[in-house]
Amino acid sequence: MKVTVGVSGGIAAYKAAELVRALQQHALDVHVVMTEAAKQFITPLTFASLTGHKVISSLWASPAADSDANLASAIEHIEEAQTIDALVVAPATAGVLAKFAHGIADDFLTTLYLATTAPVIVAPSMNVNMWQHAATQANLEVLANRSVRIVPPGTGYLACGMTGAGRLADTGAIVEAVLAVLHHRNDLSGETVLITAGGTREALDPVRFLGNRSSGKMGYALAEAAERRGARVILVSAPTALRAPANCELVPVTTTAEMRDAVLSRIDQATIVIKAAAVADYRPVTLSDRKLKRTGPRTIELEPTEDILSEVVARRRVGQLIIGFAAETENAVAHGRDKLLRKGADAIVLNDVSREGIGFDSDRNAVTFLTRHTALDLPEMSKCDLADRILEEILGLRRPSLVVAETDSVIEE
Ligand code: CTP
Repeated sequence: MKVTVGVSGGIAAYKAAELVRALQQHALDVHVVMTEAAKQFITPLTFASLTGHKVISSLWASPAADSDANLASAIEHIEEAQTIDALVVAPATAGVLAKFAHGIADDFLTTLYLATTAPVIVAPSMNVNMWQHAATQANLEVLANRSVRIVPPGTGYLACGMTGAGRLADTGAIVEAVLAVLHHRNDLSGETVLITAGGTREALDPVRFLGNRSSGKMGYALAEAAERRGARVILVSAPTALRAPANCELVPVTTTAEMRDAVLSRIDQATIVIKAAAVADYRPVTLSDRKLKRTGPRTIELEPTEDILSEVVARRRVGQLIIGFAAETENAVAHGRDKLLRKGADAIVLNDVSREGIGFDSDRNAVTFLTRHTALDLPEMSKCDLADRILEEILGLRRPSLVVAETDSVIEE
């Protein structure tokens, strides 16, 4: 597999040579792309000697080169972008992170980032104040939401003389992140994953609706991860402020009834169904066609909506995996398992939403992956990492299960 190491201009650039060596020890074909600033810290010759490949930094051939050479150089980033299995940028300076976040493509590395569909890993390294600056943190958040893997810097004595966060992560941690990403590459190819996301809305009048706090982030992270791992993705989404992954089939819906129709009409295409959406359980019996006026106490009569998950299970095809989500505030595991059995899903991803700082609208989450016989805690991590872990567990359901008697003894039902 081919991995491109992007080296940008920070003092830690010299450590990229060690990273190249470490990646090669995992039988990876490593190429190096440098920014102009990186060349102030380490020479391209070092990387060319280590990798046996030409090191690219400019979008253009040398000024003296003829126009054919310049054209060839200018399209090189497109070719490179299409052939790599991962791009890892170490060190990633504040400047490169900002360019990535804003889509500024003014050299080979930043252009490669925009042109590639391969997974991207960044290992930031900079002065502690630059690391903590709101601009850097905002750029990192943008990148994390785009499923860029961030290997956070370590804390310690920095080359600038200050002490704090900003030191390039250990080579081992960066290699681990690259291997994890490569390990997942294409393990979902051949699968069609239907994912529901967001919170449905039930209108009361032309202005108001009954809704819930779901941001859709977990469902979108799952869609992004499934697509990155080679699946065809159908994303049935209630309103969110998020951008859907580039190649998925996005089906926007608003109400529970619309979500039900969208899901059931596509269900036969799906090999895996993940119902991450927070679906309204009730809708108003009557919808006012005029804005309801303030006239003192008001009672709104509600009727139950369709239970989409149960209907999906009722129509299950052989081999289809069906995963539900559950947001609980008390006795989470007991309620989650009850829901799993009642609805007949293969697994439930359980959110304990009483915990602060994770879950709704957060970029981080911690869940329990519940099957009939197991309860696996997936500790707090970014929703992007969690999406990969959840997909791993879902794929694990296809493997022959452990001896049931062993697990039955530890899980009460
Ligand atoms: N779900 C669904 N259709 C509904 C309600 C829920 O498909 N009308 C799905 C959700 O997408 C989720 C799972 O069922 O995957 C569990 O949702 P939850 O709201 O926790 O379950 P409920 O059956 O509504 O139970 P509760 O009484 O706890 O709200």
